[in-house]
This record gives sequence, structure tokens and C-alpha cells, in this order.
Amino acid sequence: MEKPADTHFPIHDLLSRRWSPRAFAERPVEPEKIQRVLEAARWAASCFNEQPWVFIIATADQPAEHSKLLSCLVEGNQVWAKRAPLLMITVAKQHFDHNDQPNRHAFHDVGLAVGNLVVQATAMGLVVHQMAGILPEAIREIFSLPSGYDPVTGLAIGYPGDLNSLPEEIREREQAPRSRKALQEFVFAKTWGQNPEFL
Ligand SMILES: Cc1cc2nc3c(=O)[nH]c(=O)nc-3n(C[C@H](O)[C@H](O)[C@H](O)COP(=O)(O)O)c2cc1C
Repeated sequence: MEKPADTHFPIHDLLSRRWSPRAFAERPVEPEKIQRVLEAARWAASCFNEQPWVFIIATADQPAEHSKLLSCLVEGNQVWAKRAPLLMITVAKQHFDHNDQPNRHAFHDVGLAVGNLVVQATAMGLVVHQMAGILPEAIREIFSLPSGYDPVTGLAIGYPGDLNSLPEEIREREQAPRSRKALQEFVFAKTWGQNPEFL
């Protein structure tokens, strides 16, 4: 199933094709592709080049590790994410290495790294579903996070799967049309609330 974005202006094919499915094929993600999505994350920009991201990963070919990571997701996400052959938790380092001051942009930079990962994954035929529905305290404990590191998101990654593998309620959500705010709602010029002339 594909759900390309209905864009008002043309954008890159990789961006319009990307979406967040919940159905995954049983096919594992090849180690070479796991390396490549993480390498894409590695080359993201970051504040002071501090690279405050950490990725904790588990694959379905190691069932105990996969279950361990799955248990760090909220129930509503576990229902479908359990079929994703590759699971990740992203973590942000909250203080700069260079001066130990709080890094106000740590979550932003983790998001940029994930953005890179998602684009690379899309280019290789993979799908990624990001999740805020994680259990931060469980993650801290299960993976022995040092102090100063905060869990950010979960990622379910794999090849697109059959819609019929999903429970009915989720299947309906999966087929719902994708929507976005209009550019006029969030692009301002000169003052808050005023759109630039070209919009
Ligand atoms: C940071 C973040 C957290 C999200 N959390 C969840 C989640 O916990 N469960 C879920 O099913 N989808 C989650 N999503 C997916 C969004 O609902 C989805 O990206 C949004 O509806 C837009 O759909 P699209 O990605 O298909 O364009 C999350 C996405 C992001 C970026």
C-alpha cells in the first residue's frame, strides 16, 4: 500500500512517498541496510556538532532482544510494532560535551538524525513508523541509561506489509487519508500571523 502526499507544490519523491504504515512484511532488514540507515543518521547536522543522539536497536532474529525493546513501547504501539523486524529507541544527551551546559536543541538534533534515517530508509524501499508512545522509565531501567540521557522516540522499521495482517480497527486508521495544515497556517512574514505574498 502506498499513500503519497497530495502536495500543493512539487517536492522530492522520497518525501512525498514517505508515510507511517503499521503493516510490516516478515522479511528481515538486511544488515547492510541497517548500517546504511544509521550512517545516514550519523551525518545529520547538529548544534556544535555534538551529535547528541544514541540509537538502541533490536532485530527480530534475536527474539529476546526484540521482545525486550518491544516491551518499552506503549500497548497501543506494541500491537502492530511487534511485526516490525527492526525496532529502535532514540535517546538524547541533555548536556553539551564541550561545556556541560544544557543542550536546548538535543531533541531537535535527534529529530534531524531520524529525519536522515527515514529518508535513507525510504530510498531503499523500507518504511519507518516513529513513536512517541514509549515507556521512558522502563527504557532507562532496561537499557541502563546513564543520567543525563533522555529517551525520545521509538522507531519501527521494515518492508511494507499486507494490510490484512493488522487488526480491523488499525486497518481502518491505516487507510484514512493523510492530511496536513495549509502553508498559510504556519508560514509568516513581517509579523506573526501574516503570510508572505507568494502563498
Ligand atoms: C515524534 C513522533 C511521534 C509519533 N508517535 C506515534 C505513536 O506513538 N504511535 C503511532 O501510531 N504513530 C505515531 N506517530 C506517527 C504520526 O501519527 C504520523 O507521522 C502522522 O500522523 C503523519 O502521518 P504520516 O507520517 O503517514 O505522514 C508519531 C510520529 C512522530 C514524528
